[in-house]
Amino acid sequence: MIDKVINIAKEAGDIIRNAFRSNFGVETKSNIKDLVTEVDKKSEETIINFIKKEFPTHSILAEESGNHQRSSEYFWVIDPLDGTTNFAHGLPIFAVSIGVVKGGEVICGAVYDIMRDVMYSSEKGSGSFANDRKLHVSSNSDIKQSVLVTGFPYNVASNPDNAFERFITFLKSARAVRRLGSAAIDMCFVAEGVFDGFWEVYLNPWDIAAGKLIVEEAGGVVTDFNNKRSEIFSKQILATNGFVHKEMLKLLSLN
Ligand code: IPD
Ligand code: CA
Ligand code: CA
Repeated sequence: MIDKVINIAKEAGDIIRNAFRSNFGVETKSNIKDLVTEVDKKSEETIINFIKKEFPTHSILAEESGNHQRSSEYFWVIDPLDGTTNFAHGLPIFAVSIGVVKGGEVICGAVYDIMRDVMYSSEKGSGSFANDRKLHVSSNSDIKQSVLVTGFPYNVASNPDNAFERFITFLKSARAVRRLGSAAIDMCFVAEGVFDGFWEVYLNPWDIAAGKLIVEEAGGVVTDFNNKRSEIFSKQILATNGFVHKEMLKLLSLN
C-alpha cells in the first residue's frame, strides 16, 4: 500500500509544482487568512479519484471535500496541499500529505515536499524515509541548544490556547524558533533531526496523520500537551526527538 500512497502523492505534487506561480484562482474559507486555491481542489480530486478506483471500499477524510464514508475499516486522511498560504504567495514550502488509518492507528503515510522533490514516507514498524534515506530524530537533549518549529491556526487573532504566550516562552528558552507554514513539513524535519521539536494547537487530522507516523517511526515522540499519546483528532500536538519532550511539556504548562 505504501507504494500506492507514494505514487499518488507524487502525482498530486507534480500537478501543484506545474501550477506554482501561475495564474490560479484563490478563494477565502473561514476568514481572510484561510485560503483555498483551485490547485488544492485539483490535487484533492486527483487523489480521491485514485482511491475510489484502487480501493473502492475505503473511507476518505479530505480537507476540501470532507467525509466520503464507505464500509471498510481503512480510511485515508488527505491534505491535498499543506502550506496553501505559502503556495498562493509564491513561497516554495508546501506538501501533499496522505495518511492511511486502520483501527484508529495510522499504518502508513507519505508527505511529499514538492519543491525539494523529497518524498517522506513510513509504514508502521518499518521506519521512516526521505526518498531512500532512513530517518532518525536528533539526539540533542538541551532545550537551550534546540531549534524548534511551530505554526498558528487561522483563528490566531483570538489567541487560542495561549498560542502567543507559548511562542514567547519557547523563543526565550530555545536557540531558535521557526514558522515554516506547513505542519506536515515541520514534522518531517523533526523526523529528520533538523528540528528538535514541533508544537501547535488546533491542527486537523489531515495536517498531522502522515507526519505523526513519520516522527514516531524515526524514533520521536508525539503527544498532546498533557503527555497523552496523541491521536489524529487531538487539538494539541507536541512532536519531539523524545529527549526534549519533558522540558517542552514543562514549558507548555507555564501558559
Ligand atoms: C496549515 C499549515 C500551517 C499551520 C496551519 C495549517 P493548510 O495548513 O499546516 O503550517 O500552521 O494551522 O492549517 O491550510 O496550508 O493546509
Ligand atoms: Ca494543512
Ligand atoms: Ca491544505
